[in-house]
Amino acid sequence: MTYRVAQWGTGNVGRHALRMIIERPNLDLVGLRVYDPAKVGVDAGNFVGMAPVGVSATDDSETILALDADCVNYNALGAESNNDALGDITRILASGKNVVSSAGADYAYVRPDVSIDPDGHRKLVEACHQGETSFYMGGINPGFAMDQWPIALSRLCRRIERMHVTEIVDCRGYDSSLMQGTMGFGLPPEAESPLDRHLSNVTNTTFYLSLRMLADAIGLKLDDVKYSREAATTDVPLDGVVGRYEPGTIVAQRLRIDGIVDGEPRLSLFWVWRLTDDVAPEWPRSGFKWLFKVEGDPDIDSEIELDTATDAGRPTSLTTAALLINALPAVCDAQPGLIDNLTLAPHSGRAL
Ligand SMILES: NC(=O)c1ccc[n+]([C@@H]2O[C@H](COP(=O)([O-])OP(=O)(O)OC[C@H]3O[C@@H](n4cnc5c(N)ncnc54)[C@H](OP(=O)(O)O)[C@@H]3O)[C@@H](O)[C@H]2O)c1
Repeated sequence: MTYRVAQWGTGNVGRHALRMIIERPNLDLVGLRVYDPAKVGVDAGNFVGMAPVGVSATDDSETILALDADCVNYNALGAESNNDALGDITRILASGKNVVSSAGADYAYVRPDVSIDPDGHRKLVEACHQGETSFYMGGINPGFAMDQWPIALSRLCRRIERMHVTEIVDCRGYDSSLMQGTMGFGLPPEAESPLDRHLSNVTNTTFYLSLRMLADAIGLKLDDVKYSREAATTDVPLDGVVGRYEPGTIVAQRLRIDGIVDGEPRLSLFWVWRLTDDVAPEWPRSGFKWLFKVEGDPDIDSEIELDTATDAGRPTSLTTAALLINALPAVCDAQPGLIDNLTLAPHSGRAL
C-alpha cells in the first residue's frame, strides 16, 4: 500500500522527514507546509539536495488541509513558540488526515488519568472522532530513549529494583532558536530558563510522561516525582551556531527527575546537554548517547550511540524523523483515536 503524505515544516527534523518521504517507495509526497517566506514556492527536492519532485512549498495551511492525503507529518515548532500546534493538528485530524508529530510532546502519553493538558486531550479525541483519524506524537525523547527502549529491555528482567536512563546530547551543531530560548543555554546559572520554570511543576510536564509511561509499563506506582538541575558555565567565550556564549553563562546542564517509591528513587531520568566537553568532567560526555541501567536480576548496562553525517549531523533530529516516518503506516492503519507507545502497533524500520 502507498500512503499519501504531506510534510509540515522543513527545520532540522522536517528536512530529514521530507527526505525519507521522497525516497520511500511506499510514501507519496503530496504537500509541503513552510513558514519562512523565502521557502514558499520552492520545490521540495531542493530542501534536501534532491532533484525536483513537483511539489512546491506553501505557507498556506488551508492548502494542506484541502489535500487528499492519508497523513501529515507535523514538525513545526510547538509549545516552545507562540504557534498553535494543537490548533493545526486538530484541524488536520478533523479534515480526515492522520497525524504523526514531533511537536505537541504534551501528548506523548495519552491516557485520560495522566493527561497534562485535559482540554487539549479532549480536543484531540474529538478531532480524531470527527475525521475518523489517528494521532501519534513521537520522537527520540520523549518517544523512545526514556520509554520505548527501557520498556523493551525490561522484558529481560526477572526483578527490577532501580532503573536509570541518561541522555547525553552534544548541542554544538543544534541550529535552533530553542537553544538560547527554552533550553536556557547562555543564561547565568542562577537564572531560571523557560524549561527550568516549566519543570518546577514536574508532573505537569512532558518529561514526566516518559517516567510515568515507564512506571506504568513495569507496574510501579510512584509516591512522588522530584526535579533538580545542575548547570556548568564557561570561563572563556564560546561560539556556537546560534551565537556566542559569554564567560559565566551556561554551556552544559544536567537535568534530573526521580520517581520515588517509599522514599527511594526507583526510576531516575537524567538529561546531560553539552556545548562543550571541557566543563563538568564528572558528567558523561561526548556525542549523542543514551545509557540505560537496571539494578535487578539481571543487572543491565546498555548504551545507544548514534552518528550521522546527513544535514547538520544531528542524529536526534534524524531519529525523531525516522521514528515518525517508520510509525506512519501503523498510525494510518490503526483504529481512529489517540495512540501512544503502549498502544502503537509493532513495526520496524525499512531497508531501502
Ligand atoms: N520528541 C523529540 O525527541 C523531539 C526531538 C527534536 C524536535 N522535536 C520537536 O520537533 C519540532 C521541530 O524541531 P526542529 O528541531 O526541527 O526545530 P527547528 O529546526 O527549529 O525548525 C523549526 C520548524 O518550525 C517552523 N517554524 C518557523 N516559524 C514558526 C512559527 N512561527 N510557528 C510554527 N513553526 C514555525 C520552521 O519552518 P520552516 O519550515 O519554514 O523553516 C521549521 O519547520 C519542535 O516542535 C521540537 O520540539 C521533538
